[in-house]
Amino acid sequence: MSAFNQETVLSVHHWTDRLFSFTTTRDPSFRFQNGQFVMIGLEVEGKPLMRAYSMASANYDEELEFLSIKVPEGPLTSRLQHLKPGDNILVGRKPVGTLLVDNLLPGKHLYLLSTGTGLAPFMSVIRDLEVYDRFDKVVLVHGCRFASELAYMGRITENLPQDEHLGELISEKLVYYPLVTREPFENEGRITDVIESGKMFDRLGLPSFNKEDDRVMLCGSPEMLRDTVRILEERGFIEGSNNKPGHYVIEKAFVEK
Ligand code: A2P
Repeated sequence: MSAFNQETVLSVHHWTDRLFSFTTTRDPSFRFQNGQFVMIGLEVEGKPLMRAYSMASANYDEELEFLSIKVPEGPLTSRLQHLKPGDNILVGRKPVGTLLVDNLLPGKHLYLLSTGTGLAPFMSVIRDLEVYDRFDKVVLVHGCRFASELAYMGRITENLPQDEHLGELISEKLVYYPLVTREPFENEGRITDVIESGKMFDRLGLPSFNKEDDRVMLCGSPEMLRDTVRILEERGFIEGSNNKPGHYVIEKAFVEK
């Protein structure tokens, strides 16, 4: 049996000239946990060219959804960005990843901190009923250079609160905090800066990070992960893994060079 399923692209949405998302069919045998990623790609010169992508869809959706950057010289994304409905795409059979609620100790507030395409796994996590059972507040932070890169904003702020099953819980518990660094916006600054200055907590009306109540999932560039982990570790947070739950978990957002 091949390591990949052949799926069909169903829709493509271009957010900016650097960012797009697409949906595909989903093999009924493909099961995953919200927050996981899988290898996806295309066959190039007879060989699979695969990269890790988080599912932006929930594990109960009929379709799969992925969020991707476009890099003109990127071996995979230079090709993926031209996907059209009806095209084929390879999707691995083995989802993996650490951004799972089971890898976190019990707590009150769940912070989902992302930059760029690091938002993708959290689009899945914020649609997980289990998350709302375990936490009083779920705070989704998405940092981008420009406001146009705040993908899925309409879905988060308008559609999800109306969701037939989760709408009520989402309206009550989910807080969205978008951040922009390179142009004027209602919330400006890097994630790390608004945490350290306390601006984020003032805006949310929540206390600054403490390891008794707060749990954190991080997905972004290696630099963003390094700097945010430093802040968390200064406050005594310990990293969780698939073997041992902790105060925070991290995953590198996919960026093709
Ligand atoms: P900045 O504009 O100040 O570089 P990118 O598109 O390069 O992945 O960046 C996405 C967002 O992440 C940008 O807003 C960027 O801010 C921010 N960012 C980059 N490096 C860090 C870091 N070390 N810590 C926190 N945020 C960062």
